[in-house]
Amino acid sequence: MIEIEKIENFISMTKVDYNNYKEFLKNRNYVIVENVKLEIGRNWKIKEFEPKHFELETTNVWSFPNRGKWATHYLNSKYRGNWAPQVVRNLLIRYTKEGDWVLDPFVGSGTTLIEAKLLRRNAIGIDINYEAVILTLDRLNFDMPPNLLENDKKPIIEVYVGDARNLDKIENESIDFIAAHPPYVDIIGYSKNSNSKIDGDLSKIHSVEDFCIEMKKVAKEMYRVLKPHKFCAILIGDTRRKKYHIPISFKVLNVFLEVGFKLKEDIIKIQHRMKTTPLWVKRSKELNFLLLQYEHLFVFEK
Ligand SMILES: C[S@@+](CC[C@H](N)C(=O)[O-])C[C@H]1O[C@@H](n2cnc3c(N)ncnc32)[C@H](O)[C@@H]1O
Repeated sequence: MIEIEKIENFISMTKVDYNNYKEFLKNRNYVIVENVKLEIGRNWKIKEFEPKHFELETTNVWSFPNRGKWATHYLNSKYRGNWAPQVVRNLLIRYTKEGDWVLDPFVGSGTTLIEAKLLRRNAIGIDINYEAVILTLDRLNFDMPPNLLENDKKPIIEVYVGDARNLDKIENESIDFIAAHPPYVDIIGYSKNSNSKIDGDLSKIHSVEDFCIEMKKVAKEMYRVLKPHKFCAILIGDTRRKKYHIPISFKVLNVFLEVGFKLKEDIIKIQHRMKTTPLWVKRSKELNFLLLQYEHLFVFEK
């Protein structure tokens, strides 16, 4: 494990590189995130580096019944709550150009960075969970085919263990686009199987009010590092407690508006194949409520 500095209440961003990854592999060839074991360290076979059929979305309702499997995305279907590569591809193509700097402060299994690499955007990924960071490095460990490398120019991709509330290694107004997919309060406990629940993991928070206080710190940091007039996207869903709809998304939307972002798009992202569905189907019949089947993908402009 690497040494991590702490500044006030937050950990400082600490770069994790392939030497750290190789060290990790000496002890084990898997990571555990939430209660899922994911294998790492193999020489992964890649059949296709790009989606077979891809069309840029043109409306504000997005639905991807099958999560994309190109490049190393196919290895991550078991990572709970990861977003579809089609979401990221749409965002990166619409809001960035080659050579831009993209930031994902909740990088998880690395979906955003894999897409950034394939689309030749430079990128920074951060996660509070060291295991997720190691997983991301593993999924980025592939050579690009020559047809995707223009003039041999490789994108720069950096991965850090860190806290989205403290982007201390990133300069003011240096980022061209932010793609953020935080936990939805404690619906999925990302560090629940760690020896000690990870300090700073926002998925340990149950109260929506407390979650929004912490998300405001994230939003302020995102606002600081983003260049003026550039865009930031955040995917966030709601939940149901007892029989009531808890609008996490609208509360988080408000937080982003309060720190100064302007809402450019509110995209409805249809959810497919949720792991918890059988339990919720039973409860929805007993308590007579509708099943939640969408998330909001808010796009903001600074
Ligand atoms: C919804 S997942 C992101 C999944 C990602 N989009 C993907 O495709 O794999 C949320 C991630 O946020 C991380 N996280 C929780 N609290 C954090 C914090 N304070 N700073 C940075 N990452 C955090 C969790 O470890 C988890 O990997």
